[in-house]
Amino acid sequence: MILKEGMLKEGALKGKNILITGGGTGLGKSMGEYFLELGANLVITSRKLDVLEATAKEMMGQKGGKVLPLSCDVREIEQVEKMWEDAVTEFGEIHVVLNNAAGNFISPTERLSTNAFNTVLDIVLKGTSQVTLTAGKDWISKKQTGTFLNIVTTYAWTGSGYVVPSAAAKAGVLAMTRSLAVEWAKYGIRSNAIAPGPFPTEGAWSRLLPGELVKKFDPAKKVPVGRVGEHQELANLAAYLVSDFSSFVNGEVMTIDGGEWLKGAGEFNNLDKIPQEMWDMMEASRGKKP
Ligand code: COA
Repeated sequence: MILKEGMLKEGALKGKNILITGGGTGLGKSMGEYFLELGANLVITSRKLDVLEATAKEMMGQKGGKVLPLSCDVREIEQVEKMWEDAVTEFGEIHVVLNNAAGNFISPTERLSTNAFNTVLDIVLKGTSQVTLTAGKDWISKKQTGTFLNIVTTYAWTGSGYVVPSAAAKAGVLAMTRSLAVEWAKYGIRSNAIAPGPFPTEGAWSRLLPGELVKKFDPAKKVPVGRVGEHQELANLAAYLVSDFSSFVNGEVMTIDGGEWLKGAGEFNNLDKIPQEMWDMMEASRGKKP
């Protein structure tokens, strides 16, 4: 099936060293696997070194290339700086940073403790800004070019109830992406973002829609194209945006959600619940012959 096929030509990311935060599992892992397939080397980071090491071994066994696992809590600047130093020591230069690490709690906002709210803000907004500044300052001081790709979400611009700290933090990441796209373009640093809709992952989905909830709120039902996303579809877009083929794309956020957010936004979109017979009746009442 074409949805599961890689899109870019062989070697499209050859010579690129790509750092992925939250790269040990889920969507970060899927994107990393495709980058490797296209000739890149990877640094994958998260808090869980054992998970990263297992992923790195699996990836290198299946796809070849080099994968360096480094433990790093993006909330801690000392850990971010050490991680960056180790990555640069290993590879000489990192060309791409994919800010993918995130945290999210689904909850009525009034039930969240201050610490819970801050935890999500810290991972998503502070974590992304700390990794971005650490990499960006290093690139600028060494006169190296670079590319940022930030994973946001479609509710970064609409907002969303029940994930308020995530919405607030992702909106910040989106603003940062667009701001730095302009400010740092003079240094040869591009910044773009992807806003993914529903892409099933074991971690996020079991947390965000636990147990029976996933059946009750089947995410595919909210998507005009009638399905959720395939990881490869996201990986194809990400690979394009970190590759040199997208050199003229800067400050863009690309939505990949099958039309999900627009469906919620358009005032009359829920009229798709009206059956054909009712439209026939309405036409007939206007005097139109069947
Ligand atoms: N709902 C509401 N509050 C929650 C929560 C939940 N599901 N889980 C934890 N919290 C609260 C805790 O009670 C704590 O607040 P308190 O000190 O006032 O009690 C606060 O959040 C921090 O929790 P803690 O478990 O100490 O945080 P942590 O730093 O160890 O881990 C995450 C936080 C987000 C990293 C962890 O939950 C995680 O690994 N999540 C998986 C990643 C993820 O969420 N991905 C989603 C991508 S969309």
